[in-house]
Formats: sequence, C-alpha cells, structure tokens
Amino acid sequence: MRNYVEALKAGGELRVVERTVDPRFELAAVIAASQRESEAALLFRSIKGSAVPAASNLYGSHDRLCHMIGVPTASEGGSFVERWAALSDAFEAKPIDPPIRLTNADGLAETKLSALPAITYHEKDAGPYITAGIVLARHPESGTANLSFHRAMQVSDSELRIRIGDTHDLAGMMAAAEAQGEALEVAMLIGAAPEIFLAACASLPPEADELAAAAMIRGEAVPVRPSSHINLAVPTDTEIVIEGRILPGERRPEGPFGEFLGYYVPGGNNHVLEIAGITTRRDPIYHALLCGSPEDMRPLETAIAARIYRHLVKAGIPGIIDVSCRPRLMNTVVKIDKQSADHPREVIMAAFDAHTDYSKSVVVVDQDIDINDMNQAWWAYLTRGRADTRAFVIKDRPGFYRDPKGDYLGRLGIDATMPLDRKFEFELKRVPGADTIDLKDYLT
Ligand SMILES: Cc1cc2nc3c(=O)[nH]c(=O)nc-3n(C[C@H](O)[C@H](O)[C@H](O)COP(=O)(O)O)c2cc1C
Repeated sequence: MRNYVEALKAGGELRVVERTVDPRFELAAVIAASQRESEAALLFRSIKGSAVPAASNLYGSHDRLCHMIGVPTASEGGSFVERWAALSDAFEAKPIDPPIRLTNADGLAETKLSALPAITYHEKDAGPYITAGIVLARHPESGTANLSFHRAMQVSDSELRIRIGDTHDLAGMMAAAEAQGEALEVAMLIGAAPEIFLAACASLPPEADELAAAAMIRGEAVPVRPSSHINLAVPTDTEIVIEGRILPGERRPEGPFGEFLGYYVPGGNNHVLEIAGITTRRDPIYHALLCGSPEDMRPLETAIAARIYRHLVKAGIPGIIDVSCRPRLMNTVVKIDKQSADHPREVIMAAFDAHTDYSKSVVVVDQDIDINDMNQAWWAYLTRGRADTRAFVIKDRPGFYRDPKGDYLGRLGIDATMPLDRKFEFELKRVPGADTIDLKDYLT
C-alpha cells in the first residue's frame, strides 16, 4: 500500500493533511468533505493518540481501479468489466502456480491495538472501528484461503468484535471450525497491497482460493511471510497484521455502526476475535475507510458489475457493452447495442439471475447513455418511450443477502432504450465546443 501511496503522491493524486486531527469524527469529516470535491487520496500525518499515520480514499476512483488491473480508463477506451471478466476466465482456466511465495520480512515490529489510530466514524457508532480490515483465513478442512472485509469494533488490546454476514465464506469457515469445537485462526490485514484489496472485494465461490485470485491480478505469486503469533502465512508487504483467533461458540455485543447503506446497523451479538499479537512493517501506515463512501462503493460496485457482465456474456446474451452498479450497489445499469424490441427484457431477466447479493433494480440503456449517471438513465426512460410497457416488477424475489424482515424482496426492471425504428428522433443534440472551451478565456 505504501508504494501505491507514493505513486499517488508522485502523480499529484494525494492530499496530505499535516494538521493533527481528532480520530473521533474529525478524521471522518475530513475524508467526507474531501471526497465531496475530489477523488484524490488522503494521507493523515498526525492523528491524536497514535504515532501511526493513516491513508484514505486510495480506492475511491474508478479510473484508479482500472489502472490497478492494467486497463485504460473508460475515457481512454478501456473497460474494467471486460478486463475483470478476462482475468476471471484466466483464473478458472489456469491460476498462477504457485499462488504464494515465501519471502523474508525485514524490519517487522510488534505493536498493540491501542497504539493504532482508534477512529470513530459516525455519531452513533458504538466506539472506534477498524473498517478496512481484510480477514485472511484458511478453511479448516480444505485449506482454501479466503479474503473478506469485516468491520471490527475495538474493545481492548486483546479483543475485537467482528461482524460476519451469514452468506460470506468466512461464516462457512467459522461454522466448520465451531463444529470441531475449535477457534479459527485469522489474520486481519490493514494496508495490504491493492491486489489483495481487490481480491477481497470479489465474492468468489467458496472453493476458489482468493490469495490465488490476488496472484492472478498481480500477475505473479503473492509474497508471504510466516506470522509471528499464529500458524498462517500472511502477505509480506501488508502494513499492519492483527493475528488472532475467532472464538468458537462465543458471541458478544457489537454495534451499532453506520455502514454502507447509509443507516446504522443496530447492535447485536457478534463474533469475538481474540488478538494474539500485532505485527507491522517499519513505520506502518494505517488504512482508514469511511463506509458507504466512494472508497467503499467503487471497488464493490465494480467487482459486482464485472460479475454481472461476465454472467450476461457467458449466458450468450448479445450486444452487452458495459455494466455499472451505481449509484450505490443495489442498482444495475446495463449498456447494450439493442438488437430487437425484446432484447432489453432478456438482458434484465438474465441480470437478475446473475446474483442475489445486491440486486434490486436493473435498468437497460442505449449506447449513447452514460451508465454511471443514473440521472441520464432515468431521463432516457422518461423520454425514449412509454412508461407503462417499459417497466415491470417481479414480486417476492430476493435481491439482498441480508434481509431478515423481507424489506428488500422484489425486483424492478426498466427498459430505458429507444425504439429501434425511431433512432433518428433521439440523436443527442450537442453544442460544438461546449466540452472543450476554457471558461477562463471568457470570464473575468
Ligand atoms: C469496506 C468493506 C467493508 C465490509 N464490511 C463487512 C462486514 O463488516 N461484514 C461482512 O460480513 N461483510 C462486509 N463486507 C462485505 C464482504 O467483505 C465482501 O462482500 C466479500 O467479498 C465477501 O467475500 P466472500 O463472500 O467471498 O467471503 C465489506 C466489504 C467492504 C468493501
């Protein structure tokens, strides 16, 4: 991560905060205010109560995510979803072998939780939380490695409480460990390399090894080192590694916490991570992530959009150009080269089949619409045809993995495309020069 921070600095994409900030609300407020006006990453050099600086918003830019997987940005003609689908195909056909490579780790240091930034993000959060912690674990029976984010409430130097969604692979691993009456050894990675971050965002089948997926993104084996307190090799260049065990049969109060949907998840009894020790690189950099902000949404959105894109292409649906899950995950927008009057509906139904994690609505648009701008997509629906025949609701179908009260049931499909035989009526008008003139030459 530190190499990436350096690269962003060199490219003028890093804002540095020299002033000491309070980890209770002030740091999060600066992240939110900066993200409102810029996609730049942030480096907080001085945080009250800790000697460790923190980076933020490293992943809050679609263009940067494109560069991370070696593809030009959309404005340069590249496509994240196409490249990600190609990487997934290559991963299934022939993963990098071996996926991990043992290396020496020089200059490791030991620290404790209370020496790290203790950041409280939202007004009603139960306390300080780790929000960018990637849990690395191996399945107790198969040994398959999994990477996934789990927010962690900071309780003491020896305890974190973490939330594990029922459908996530870590829940399956924990259930297998608990069935044997065993704790699950895990490493929580803070400030891992970008390929680890991206692999953790991808929801691969339980049998897929996500360190191998990280190797595929990296293009070579992931360097790992033995951990110091548990029996698990961890990615060597991670800034901070919390080594510990998730206790079997133990649940303690965690939350409330303001998470990605923009609401507080109420407190509940969740898993307990007993900290065995914390190792860091020399002069580590912490990673502070504001949940629900672009840094949370962009990587998850793009990973889900790529999964839907791949599903549509594999299902043999013609004319699929691009997929986006903006503005915030529950929605999918698909850009097509329309082939027939029924084509958009076929796309909508297939997109509903792609996954049930975050899928409440699917909107299909023509090639000239910006799929990352829901205002444009909605405007296309309102102006390019009838409202009544181009929208439909499917009752009772699940669309969100976490839905105990049925609040997310049902799907909405919207065909926002124009009729094929009336294309000439919908050519977008343009003012020559409007995109290229420099207003500074005109305004005083
Ligand atoms: C920043 C961030 C925070 C997240 N926090 C949690 C969390 O606290 N609990 C959880 O169950 N999932 C959380 N998730 C979602 C999962 O980590 C993510 O969907 C992951 O891909 C699950 O992978 P798996 O199903 O392959 O294990 C978070 C995701 C991100 C990007």
